[in-house]
Amino acid sequence: MDLFDKCYSYTVAEEARKAGLYPYFQPISSEQDTVVIINGRKVLMFGSNSYLGLTVHPKVKEAAKKAIDKYGTGCAGSRFLNGTLDIHEELEERLAEFVNKEDALLFSTGFQANLGGIAGLVGKGEYVILDKSDHASIVDGARLSYGTVKRFIHNDMESLEKVLSSIELEAGKLIVVDGVYSMDGDIANLPEMVKLKKRYNARLMVDDAHSFGVLGKNGRGTANHFGLEDDVDIVMGTFSKSFASLGGFLAADRAVIDYLRHFARSVIFSASITPASTAAVLAALDIMENEPELIDKLWANTERMRKGVQDMGYDTGTSCTPIIPLIVGDDEKVLRMRRMLLDEGVFVNPVVSPAVPPNKTLIRLSLMATHTFEQIDIALDKLYKVGRALDVI
Ligand SMILES: Cc1ncc(COP(=O)(O)O)c(C=O)c1O
Repeated sequence: MDLFDKCYSYTVAEEARKAGLYPYFQPISSEQDTVVIINGRKVLMFGSNSYLGLTVHPKVKEAAKKAIDKYGTGCAGSRFLNGTLDIHEELEERLAEFVNKEDALLFSTGFQANLGGIAGLVGKGEYVILDKSDHASIVDGARLSYGTVKRFIHNDMESLEKVLSSIELEAGKLIVVDGVYSMDGDIANLPEMVKLKKRYNARLMVDDAHSFGVLGKNGRGTANHFGLEDDVDIVMGTFSKSFASLGGFLAADRAVIDYLRHFARSVIFSASITPASTAAVLAALDIMENEPELIDKLWANTERMRKGVQDMGYDTGTSCTPIIPLIVGDDEKVLRMRRMLLDEGVFVNPVVSPAVPPNKTLIRLSLMATHTFEQIDIALDKLYKVGRALDVI
């Protein structure tokens, strides 16, 4: 057997390309805004994680340009050695304050924050306990750790308790969950989780990738939303969504963050985030702290879209955030629907198996604060037309 045999016999992607249904790596020739240019045509964007629309905000763009003028285009090294800038430290302080923790540590991506944080903290004889719908970076971080990985049924607190009670009380345990789940758009049951983590001597880490800019005061995330900032031990965030940039961070007690500065391999052995990316996040934070009306608009848009699709008969599952799944339950139909919507001028994301079970395949809509009601209404018209044509509604 040749190692490459599996590559030579992998035909699924090519078959989808030939059928005109391949949905991935779609080039966009413009900014990530509510309207993007695809194949020379204007398309309404309903698949972006830029929840507050800040990737095109003049102040964010200006801050990134100024940072290039002052600091150049890259740091040419890791934070550990030559790659720490004063603005990295400024951003860490601002983020720690934002989430009400003592300290924070930047990573070059959110994926790396989960890898480095979980693998750095959970050692031999310890446990990492995951929700079955946790993001891939959490799963990989757990795999990289030397601890034992346990999983519980999605957002099911009885299942979590069963796992916790099966582990010796004295053993170190880290529960890791998404604050907002990226496929279903539902929110982690932190109030119950906090009770359980206290009862069973566990620590709790929340991945707020989809919660910053969405939940809590000024978009401070899931713990703030529930009034549980002191009970969530580690907050993880990414800059690739509401923060309109690239990178990630962990925030926690000073001792935990200082330990991770010296044991999180993905921060020590990877170059630090670029000056432009760092400055963009600082500017996005200013906007989040000073323009709360953006979050109100995001929620008004979300409710208009959710009501619209539900009134048409779409099944939106347990979603209660700007991530709105339309459950289709058939891989090919999802790919057809995505393609037909694109032809009608609406970009959406398809989610097919094995990312979700085959009967739960879905089209994922993501709302932005900067969508207009008119754009949402156009998308609703197209969703009705295509949904009816494919017998989804
Ligand atoms: C829940 C969650 N965690 C982590 C990440 C990884 O973040 P990044 O894009 O910064 O690598 C993502 C998405 O990208 C995510 O959705």
